[in-house]
Amino acid sequence: MFFTSFFRLVLLGGLAAAQTAVVTTYGDSAVAGDSTVQYTLGADDFDAPKVDFYNATSAQWWYFDVVSTDLTQSVVISFLGNAPGATGTPVGEVPFNFIEVNLQLPNSSLVALSAAAESITLTTVGNGLSGVMNGAGYNWSGAPDLSNILIKINDTVNGLSGSIQFNSKAPYHASCGPATEGASLLVSPHLGWGNSIPNSLASVSLNYQGQQLSYQGSGYHDSNWGDRAFSADLGSWYWGHAQFGSYSLVWFDMMDNTGVEHQLGYLAANDTIIANSCGTIPVRPTGANSAYPPIAGLLPTGFQIVYNMSSAGILEVNVTNYQAIVSYPGVYTRWVGSVVGGIRGETAYTGIGLYEEMGG
Ligand SMILES: *[C@@H]1O[C@H](CO)[C@@H](O)[C@H](O)[C@H]1NC(C)=O
Ligand SMILES: *[C@@H]1O[C@H](CO)[C@@H](O)[C@H](O)[C@H]1NC(C)=O
Ligand SMILES: *[C@@H]1O[C@H](CO)[C@@H](O)[C@H](O)[C@H]1NC(C)=O
Ligand SMILES: *[C@@H]1O[C@H](CO)[C@@H](O)[C@H](O)[C@H]1NC(C)=O
Ligand SMILES: *[C@@H]1O[C@H](CO)[C@@H](O)[C@H](O)[C@H]1NC(C)=O
Ligand SMILES: *[C@@H]1O[C@H](CO)[C@@H](O)[C@H](O)[C@H]1NC(C)=O
Ligand SMILES: *[C@@H]1O[C@H](CO)[C@@H](O)[C@H](O)[C@H]1NC(C)=O
Repeated sequence: MFFTSFFRLVLLGGLAAAQTAVVTTYGDSAVAGDSTVQYTLGADDFDAPKVDFYNATSAQWWYFDVVSTDLTQSVVISFLGNAPGATGTPVGEVPFNFIEVNLQLPNSSLVALSAAAESITLTTVGNGLSGVMNGAGYNWSGAPDLSNILIKINDTVNGLSGSIQFNSKAPYHASCGPATEGASLLVSPHLGWGNSIPNSLASVSLNYQGQQLSYQGSGYHDSNWGDRAFSADLGSWYWGHAQFGSYSLVWFDMMDNTGVEHQLGYLAANDTIIANSCGTIPVRPTGANSAYPPIAGLLPTGFQIVYNMSSAGILEVNVTNYQAIVSYPGVYTRWVGSVVGGIRGETAYTGIGLYEEMGG
């Protein structure tokens, strides 16, 4: 059964000022009517839910990943509210509240797990969000200033348990600029994006069917939402994040199905934003099969990202695929890879990234 409720509680945090908690609950099926979907930032609501209720086509999902410093391990977790609506999949083929986990094991085997939640309970405090995927054994808890997030797992069905801690080292941001009230959160019409943790020091401590997976690396968190299936607007996209030297980079280069390219760029150094703008960060495939726009089924060996940051200089980054960690041939590939990059005319640094190609 579906119900939604917004109610306010006052939490007293020791001697700190009282902070208001807003609780939102989403049930297990779509509700008739027009959803209200938020595409601009309010005051201090960065990671808050952006859809008042899910009708058949409105949806939001929360995405987390970690890639290990040596590229041999990674984990990606997505929590989806209205997965059929988000993906344009018929109801019944995918659970309404859906959890997808991808593990890259140290022996290079790939594991894909899924789980269904009965309902989703979300608690917003300040800019932070905590969520419980009820009945599935997954929850996360975010600090009000988004400085850290802790995911806890006890999925007895799939044999996955443990925790992942993200300690942010790059400030959250709006699509094309700082996270100020009224800033746009659109990637393209109907697709919202909130990049809450562009980069973090992440610590993974998971147990998968008796095998302990413990490592540190680069961790990332964002959310997407919209009022219609993203397949309705999408042509292709390249998205990813990387860290090298003291830099944290996020790129999103999407071509919608009218052929319009939307480029979003973000660079931080030592927890300070260096550049955050749209329209000057082309991401292009390199090596064999480097056609642009991508040709379905032909995968490149890497990518080059050139970000004209205006007065901050021109960032040039080369990404080389290390391992494909999710692959739906002809549709979608996600990789971990090594990167080398820096501002032209300055030192180049090596690092790591996790990124994807949609539509190739
Ligand atoms: C869901 O809500 C959105 C936003 O109001 C609306 O555009 C869309 O048509 C609705 N979908 C359905 C299936 O009613
Ligand atoms: C890798 O490890 C997993 C989990 O222990 C195991 O199931 C799988 O068979 C291993 N793969 C290879 C290629 O050894
Ligand atoms: C995990 O769930 C199982 C079954 O519900 C329970 O017995 C166990 O105590 C839980 N473990 C933790 C660490 O919460
Ligand atoms: C989060 O999950 C952990 C592990 O299953 C559990 O011990 C804890 O009670 C859960 N917290 C909430 C708020 O559900
Ligand atoms: C980041 O901090 C380190 C250590 O203080 C410093 O060496 C480096 O130059 C800084 N990076 C940038 C881009 O300011
Ligand atoms: C970078 O952008 C600036 C405008 O902000 C422009 O003047 C400059 O020519 C651009 N540089 C390159 C290499 O495209
Ligand atoms: C990126 O690759 C191109 C082509 O091989 C090379 O010319 C350029 O120097 C590389 N840039 C960096 C930052 O390594």
